Amino acid sequence: MPIHDDAERLLSEAQRFLRQQRELYGDLLPIEHGATEPMKRVTPPPPATPAPAGTDLFGEPDIPASSPVKGAATGTKLLPYPGEPWTSADSLVSLNEQICNCQKCALGSTRKSFVFGVGNPNADVVIVGEAPGADEDEQGEPFVGRAGQLLNKILEAIHFKREEVYICNILKCRPPNNREPQADEIGQCEPYLWKQLEIIKPKMILCAGRVAGQALLRTNASLTSLRGTVHDYRGIPLMVTYHPAALLRNPNWKRPCWEDVQKFRTLYDEMKAKEQSAR
Ligand code: URA
Repeated sequence: MPIHDDAERLLSEAQRFLRQQRELYGDLLPIEHGATEPMKRVTPPPPATPAPAGTDLFGEPDIPASSPVKGAATGTKLLPYPGEPWTSADSLVSLNEQICNCQKCALGSTRKSFVFGVGNPNADVVIVGEAPGADEDEQGEPFVGRAGQLLNKILEAIHFKREEVYICNILKCRPPNNREPQADEIGQCEPYLWKQLEIIKPKMILCAGRVAGQALLRTNASLTSLRGTVHDYRGIPLMVTYHPAALLRNPNWKRPCWEDVQKFRTLYDEMKAKEQSAR
C-alpha cells in the first residue's frame, strides 16, 4: 500500500476515535489548547442501527451469546435464607420494604441509607455495580456521584436512558472509606440482588467492574479476562466492563470500555430483532 494511503487511513481512524471520545466523554475531556471550555459533543449520536450480523460496530468479529460460559452461577442454589418472608416478595417495592432495615452484616450499623436500586422494574437491562459510595449513601440512590454521571453518559452513548434500565449494586450499604466489599458482606447481601433479578427478569446484565462480575459469575478471574466475553448468568447474557470510577482514574480504559458497551448494545439489538421476528 502506498505510504500516503496508509497515512490517510491512520488519520481517518484517529479522527473517528476522537469523534467517539468527544461524544462519550465530551464534558470530561481536557480543555483543548486555546479553548476556554471543555470540548462538547461535536457529532450527533450514531444511528442505533444494528451492525452487520457477525460483526460489532468496529467491524470486528462478534462473540455469539452461545459462546463458552466462564464461571457462570448456573446451578448455584438460589436464596439461601429459606423461610425469610422477603424470599417470596413479588415486587421490588415489597422486597425493598422487607429488607431495608437489614442488619445481616456490620455495614448495617454504619450506613446512612440502604441503597436498594433504581430504575425501570420491567427493565430489559440491569446494570450491577459494586457498592454505594458517599454520595449514594447520602442520597439513597445508586450511581449518583461522579462515577454515576459517567455511567449516565456511557448509557446515553449506547442509546439507553437511565430511567429505562435498572441500576443496583452487589452491596446495598456503603463500606467505610469506600473499601472493597468483603467476602462475608457479599455472601450476606448478594441474595437480595438475586431476588431483584428474579423479579425484574432482565434480558441482559452489564456488570460495572471486576467486583460485580466476580460476584455474579462466582469466579476470581481478572477483569481483563472477564471483559469482552458474553457470559451466562442463569440463562441471561451478562457482560463485564470497567467500573466508571476506574475510567475516571485511568482514561486509557475508556476505549476498551467503549468497545465493550458497543458490543453489549449490538447483542441487545440482535436479541430484540430476533424477538420481533419470532412474533
Ligand atoms: N460505585 C458503585 O459501584 N456503585 C454506586 O452506586 C456508586 C459508585
